[in-house]
Formats: sequence, C-alpha cells, structure tokens
Amino acid sequence: MDLKSKFEQFEQINNAAELGGGQERIDKQHAAGKKTARERILELLDKGTFNEIDKLVTHRATDFGIDKKKIPGDGVVTGYGKVHGRLVYVFAQDFTVFGGTMSRANADKIVKIQELAVKMGTPLIGLNDSGGARIQEGVQSLAGYADIFYNNVLSSGVIPQISAILGPCAGGAVYSPALTDFIFMVNESSHMFVTGPDVIRTVTHEDVSKEELGGAVTHTSKSGVAHFSGENEEQTLMMVRELISFIPSNNMEDPPHKVTTDPVDRKEESLNDIIPADPNKPYDMKDIIFKIIDDEHFLEVQPNYASNIIIGFARFGGQSVGIIANQPAFLAGVLDINSSAKAARFVRFCDAFNIPLVTMVDVPGFLPGTQQEFGGIIKHGAKLLYAFAEATVPKITLITRKAYGGAYDVMSSKHIGGDINYAYPTAEIAVMGPDGAINILRRDITDADEKAKAVEEYRDTFANPYRAAALGYIDEIIYPEDTRQKIINALEMTHNKRKSNLPRKHGNIPL
Ligand code: HXC
Repeated sequence: MDLKSKFEQFEQINNAAELGGGQERIDKQHAAGKKTARERILELLDKGTFNEIDKLVTHRATDFGIDKKKIPGDGVVTGYGKVHGRLVYVFAQDFTVFGGTMSRANADKIVKIQELAVKMGTPLIGLNDSGGARIQEGVQSLAGYADIFYNNVLSSGVIPQISAILGPCAGGAVYSPALTDFIFMVNESSHMFVTGPDVIRTVTHEDVSKEELGGAVTHTSKSGVAHFSGENEEQTLMMVRELISFIPSNNMEDPPHKVTTDPVDRKEESLNDIIPADPNKPYDMKDIIFKIIDDEHFLEVQPNYASNIIIGFARFGGQSVGIIANQPAFLAGVLDINSSAKAARFVRFCDAFNIPLVTMVDVPGFLPGTQQEFGGIIKHGAKLLYAFAEATVPKITLITRKAYGGAYDVMSSKHIGGDINYAYPTAEIAVMGPDGAINILRRDITDADEKAKAVEEYRDTFANPYRAAALGYIDEIIYPEDTRQKIINALEMTHNKRKSNLPRKHGNIPL
C-alpha cells in the first residue's frame, strides 16, 4: 500500500469511528432532543482542545452474535481537553453505539482516563447516557462497572469528579455518578433510578412515570441526589464549566483566583437595615450574600433541596469560597435532617479541595418532631458538626441574628475551629430563644404581662452578641455595611493557614 492509500485508509477508519452508531441513530438521538457524545464534548470543552483517546477500541464479546457487530469506540468517547484553559479529562457515553451500554472494553476506556486524571491531578467529567450493563457481556460488564466505582472511590477527595446525566442512567449504573462530587441533570431528558417504573409497578404496585421517579426535578428537589439541573444540554454543560471555574484541579492546588474590579473595601449601607427589628420576621439571607460577594456571582448548589440551608460557591476579592448559610426565609432557617446532610457534604468537598468556608448563621435550632427524631436527626445533625469540626481550611463565620442551642455550636463556631467569628449587633447567641427559655425558667408566671416582661428581660440579658464577645467566642462585632471588607480581611489573614488533624486511617463520620 502506498503512502497516499495509507492516509486514505486512516481517513476512512477515522471517519467511520467519528460517525459512532451511524447517521440513522444520530438522527434519532437529535430527534429526541439530545446531542451525540462528541457534540457534547465539543460543547463542554474550550474550542479546539479535545484530544480523543482509544477511538478505535472495539469490544471482544461473542455471545448473541455480537461479534458480528463491532463499532469503533464501543459506545463511549474518552479523552482530554481544557475548560477555561485548564486540563480536564472527559468521557461521554455514546447512546448511538449499543445504547451507550457498558462493555468490558468500554469500561477499560473509562478506567484508563480515570487513572490518567488522578495521575495528572485534573478533574474528571463524565457525561452519562446509557442503557446500563451490556446484557450480552454478562458479568464482564458488572466487573467493568465495579472497576469504575473503585476508581471513583479512590479518586474521591484527590481530584474533583463531576457527572452530567444526559439520558438514561439506571440500575447499578447510578452508583458511579453517586460516588462523584456533583451531579448535573437536564430537565425532562435525563433519568436516574435504581429500579425503573416497570419493576416498581410489579413489586410495590405503585404507578409512577420515569420523570416523576427519577427526573431532574425529583433529584434536585426531593431526593437530593443531584446538585444542578439545566433546561437543556447546552445550559447544563455551561454550568459544569462554571463549577470548574471555582474549584482547583486537585487536592494539592488552591482554587483558581479570578481578577475582579469589585472593590474589596466596598461598603454596603443597605445591609444596615436588612435584619428586621422583629426577631421573628424572616428575611432572605441571599440578599446579604449577593451584596457582599464579588460581582454578585453566586453558584448555588442544590437551590431547590432543603432550602433552609444555602450552599454554593462565590468569590471574595477573587478568592473562591464555599458559602454555607442558614436561610431564615425558609422554615426559619432551622437545621433538619436534609439540610444537615446537604451542608455536611458540601463542607467536606470544600475542605478536601482547599476552598475556605464562609458560614453565615441565623438558626433557631434543630427542627423538633417525631418525624425528625425517628428519621435520625441526631446522626444527621452530627454529620454537619463532624464536617465543620474536621475541616482544616480557613473558616470564617458571621452570625447575623439567631444562633441558638446546639445549632450555634454546629455552625462553624469558635469552639469547633472557627478562625474568625464575626457577629452583627443584631446577633442573639444563647441556649434558646427568649419565649422558650421563660416558659421553662418561669413556669410560675401565669400573668401574660408579667411573662412578657420576663421575656424582655431575658432578651436584653442573653439575646445579644455581647456575652459571647466578652468570652472571646466572637472575635469582633461588626457593622453590617462592612461585611464584605471584614470577610476579605479574614480570608487574607487566614490565607497561609496551616492546620492538620492527627494522622489516622480515616475518621468515622456518622453516616
Ligand atoms: C444491550 C442495549 C441495552 C442493554 C439498550 N440496548 N439497552 N443493548 N444491553 N442493557 C440497545 C438496544 O437494543 C438498541 O439497540 C439500542 O441500545 C438503543 O436502545 P432502544 O431501546 O432502541 O432505545 P430507547 O427506546 O431510547 O430506550 C432506551 C432504554 C432502553 C430506556 C435505555 O433501551 C432500555 O430500557 N434498555 C434496558 C435498560 C436496562 O434494563 N439496563 C440494565 C439496567 S441494570 P439497536 O441495535 O436495536 O439499536 C444495569 C446493571 C448495572 O445496568 C450494574 C452495575 C453494578
């Protein structure tokens, strides 16, 4: 074969591989409102940066006549490229090839880039769209999944792992995304469930659609399995890019610094009257967040799940931080099972990846009730306490209003390692709120006026930040208008913080 023919042969093979399962299946994918694996990767990465690996890999199975059907790539496109100029590894299951199903060869490709990503210290992004285990490959497929799960676990806390679900993701296949740090979904076109509607109908006689069972709305609002959802694939992939901009490439790096023109000493006078005079009146903690962060840019994580706590990424003077904030506008900002678990996982992500924690506190306590107690609020609340206590990144805390009872301790208090703990003059730091306290301490009072007087007296004595400040539990009481500058000062002060916990195999977080 002459040189020209060799190149022609290569071109032919290459073109065939790039066509995946063929034009007909590509058209079907498009008709379903979905992009192909390669189109998605190009959408996700910086233009012209994708390098594909293992494009010509095929499966080695023989059962059910599958040996007669081999398609280069075998149902997953893998490789590396850049997001905002930074290296990332990516795999995208190709639904046009055997329904994107997991074969031994297909798993080997994913395992290869998982190992490369860890070795090079870069994020790994998985774009999922698959019919699950390739039935013709039996246990080989299950072995492939397990190899991927194993790498997911060993990479956890070493490199960021991100999953976007862009089609079906069912059965045990859900456990690879579940082991990653963040899950993105697309409204109406992505589904995750361990057992689908048909099995559920047979076993429990429940009738449920796949959207209701495992769609984006379900997983971002009811189950808390997913963290973000987009209206369509483009928006979802842009959100993945946005997330990458806030986080470092691995656990040995600091998060990327972003230059901002937002002045570090910007005062925000409107904050001075943001806390209502009536302590029982709600306000929106996000109003404070948006006024103090750089350029009002807040990437909220799980905005529709356990909204009584707000978590998300923002920057102060270019420094990326994780914000954890009670939300008095939802269930009075109470800590319950879901909000504790939601925030605990976020705190642990930030701590693993050197992202300072800014905690904003307005919490009346833990939610009372049998539902919470029977559901294990004790162990779930302990998760958040554990996560904050073990975190060694800079921890800056601001109490805006209520910090009552155990919830005061939990929310990154001085006692569990807060580096700088601020409070507004409106802060109320005590064992419990005035009404509850007087109901217990002064059961003897029956007269309403007398009781109101006792409540007022308690409020004046305890429901303020001065007792805590006198004991050094609050480092500084600040004017709300200075919040941005004060947080930036604290972040600068803690920038070179060195703190590590005693060596151990691993702790035993209450799961
Ligand atoms: C082999 C499969 C397949 C599978 C789909 N295909 N799933 N091939 N093994 N698991 C093939 C189809 O035969 C078809 O091939 C092509 O992929 C596209 O599938 P369609 O059914 O035509 O597409 P669609 O109508 O969009 O339906 C998609 C689907 C459906 C909802 C995913 O295919 C489906 O229900 N598949 C089975 C899903 C499943 O039960 N998987 C096992 C889950 S348990 P042709 O050649 O006809 O185009 C599991 C265990 C993991 O995965 C364990 C990990 C530990």
